[in-house]
Amino acid sequence: MRSPAPGPHALAALLEAGLEEQAIVEELRTLLLVGHESTACALAWALERLARHPEVLERLRAGDGDYAEAVAREVLRSRPPVLDAVRLATRPLELDGGIRLAAGTIVMAAPLLLHHRPDLYPAPERFRPERFLIERPADGAYLPFGGGARRCLGAQLALLELKALLRVLADGYALAPTGPALERTRLIGTAVAPARGAEITLSPSRSRRQPGAAFSTAASSTATGGRSSLRWGRA
Ligand code: HEM
Repeated sequence: MRSPAPGPHALAALLEAGLEEQAIVEELRTLLLVGHESTACALAWALERLARHPEVLERLRAGDGDYAEAVAREVLRSRPPVLDAVRLATRPLELDGGIRLAAGTIVMAAPLLLHHRPDLYPAPERFRPERFLIERPADGAYLPFGGGARRCLGAQLALLELKALLRVLADGYALAPTGPALERTRLIGTAVAPARGAEITLSPSRSRRQPGAAFSTAASSTATGGRSSLRWGRA
């Protein structure tokens, strides 16, 4: 393996940690793959959600940082881009509620199901960023990035990227859905993408609008082959 250029980058950190070459390759592959698809899906869902909720985009225009954070979190609550976080029980366990697991049991936490529990999120089908302004979710009730020792390493970066997108959209664009039907989901590996690639119409907002400048775009993740699909109740 060639020596990397000096600097604070992932490869240098992994080499410094003294890992075997194969382990380094695996770590870098993980960084690239998990960081790419999940973020692409999150950005696509943000476009899809905002296109159907102009009132949210309008409020984002006020430039309130707390609200932008709440919108990013609500996108990840309502449309979590990663299907599950998986663990292997290495010893027998008893969960809350008396559920017993034998050693060797595979346990999967499903953020999509968790985030749509009405006891945790009233009216869970509604896209309502305000819920994150009022109170923080209970421990373990919000898992778009998984949790515990293996929680997503890129969570802060992903939130930053989402908020950067929200800022650009709020500063200069109006969004509209291309049709009334909500986008179903398309599963690519373990990433959950909008089935139609977050198809929206994007045009300069009134303050910046220029005649004839409106255009259509299919803001898409790199999603290509879908395997299964879910339908949303409403909103
Ligand atoms: C919205 C975007 C993202 C979402 C929803 C997401 C979600 C997740 C989830 C659910 C896990 C599994 C956590 C667990 O098992 O508890 C994970 C792991 C991971 N993510 Fe992300 N991720 C995102 C973006 C990123 C980015 C941008 C990077 C890096 C640049 C990244 C790097 C990682 C890594 C390295 C792991 C494995 C952590 C470990 O096993 O210790 N992720 N991510």
